[in-house]
Amino acid sequence: MDRFLIEGGRPLNGEVRISGAKNAALPLLAATLLASTPVTLRNVPDLKDVSTLIKLIRGMGVTITRDGDTVTVDTSTLNSQFAPYELVKTMRASILVLGPLLARYHDAKVSLPGGCAIGSRPVDLHLKAMTALGAEVTVENGYVHASVGGRLKGSRIQFELVTVGGTQNALTAAVLAEGTTIIDNAAREPEVTDLAHMLVKMGARIEGIGSDTLTVHGVEQLQGCEYPVIADRIETGSYLAAAAMTGGKIRTTHTDPSLLEAVLQKFEEMGAVVTTGPDWIELDMQGKRPRAVNFRTLPHPAFPTDMQAQLMAVNTIAEGTGTIIETIFENRYMHVPELSRMGAHIQVDGHTAIVSGVEQLQAAPVMATDLRASMSLVLAALAAKGQTCIDRIYHIDRGYERIEAKLTQLGASIQRVAG
Ligand code: UD1
Repeated sequence: MDRFLIEGGRPLNGEVRISGAKNAALPLLAATLLASTPVTLRNVPDLKDVSTLIKLIRGMGVTITRDGDTVTVDTSTLNSQFAPYELVKTMRASILVLGPLLARYHDAKVSLPGGCAIGSRPVDLHLKAMTALGAEVTVENGYVHASVGGRLKGSRIQFELVTVGGTQNALTAAVLAEGTTIIDNAAREPEVTDLAHMLVKMGARIEGIGSDTLTVHGVEQLQGCEYPVIADRIETGSYLAAAAMTGGKIRTTHTDPSLLEAVLQKFEEMGAVVTTGPDWIELDMQGKRPRAVNFRTLPHPAFPTDMQAQLMAVNTIAEGTGTIIETIFENRYMHVPELSRMGAHIQVDGHTAIVSGVEQLQAAPVMATDLRASMSLVLAALAAKGQTCIDRIYHIDRGYERIEAKLTQLGASIQRVAG
């Protein structure tokens, strides 16, 4: 398993180009299954999760070509609606093929997902939504089997809690249903909005995009289109956190400040100078030590759970004490014991973590446990005294494109060691 060796203590400075969002690219790729003619996606990041989904869709007989950050999907050769355990287990987002397959081919067999081990993360709400649209859904031997005789039927779907993937599956199923579907308590994450915009470009009729009530008037067919994936707001926030963590100054380009307002506000509270333009964000820590901040993770537009670990890392070296409350996932503090090995002072009680900032972290051997947790360890290592070895970095390769190259360009000392 590959490891990172990071020599800490250098302020990071410079410019970094942000990639397309993993969490947008995955639902968009799954939604290409709805189109009768080829779809071309641009700004697709080169990540493990993206290649896993491409492999999964290719396994259904679909023709997919990839040229740099452009991916073209032609579903005319599809010959199976089966998503096997071997691929689905590595990535929870594989469940996103369920809605499109069911809507267009009226039958799908998809393994129950795996993915990051951050809580039990069931898919019950996805399945309830498919049932509401008239599908017969059974779960047997670890597989979801959903089918419908003819088209799905428009209906009212009321999500009891905000689910990003559940909303995306409901949306991609409803667009080809007969009649109107109303999705209540829909997720408003930018990646849901991005999906809705692409579906509209394919010919779908959706009202309320960006709000928590989506109204979908089903159409009989959707066409291919060309569509660019939005910028990765979590990658953006992670690089800005690297500047806050090391007292540096980083400009993220090819990004969108409107996607991460709640995060930028926290950086400002930390004492960073944040400036933005139409497609860039710059964070200047001016060599200062950050001030500790309190925050609570909540659905968009509030503070995102996918930035919790990174901001906790900044809090570990901040002046003062910061209280963090994680409300989205039940087991998302797996980075805490690892950060503690590096000298961080963190107390966890249920959903609450209290971080008392220390002046200096120390290098230590640590282990990545999930995607965003691994980024918090990279951040801690960048600020720590000495050389940190981070094991199991396959987690980070799922979501951060060319991370060593990008960090090196910013002045970090980071090395990948194959093992
Ligand atoms: C997506 C993101 C992930 C992010 C999360 C929350 C992708 C590929 N992943 O994950 O990075 O951390 O949104 O912003 O976009 N839940 C249920 N039943 C369900 C579905 C969800 O109980 O059927 C619960 C989950 O366990 C969790 C909460 O709802 O506690 C939110 O999960 P959800 O928004 O669905 O997350 P994902 O779509 O899996």
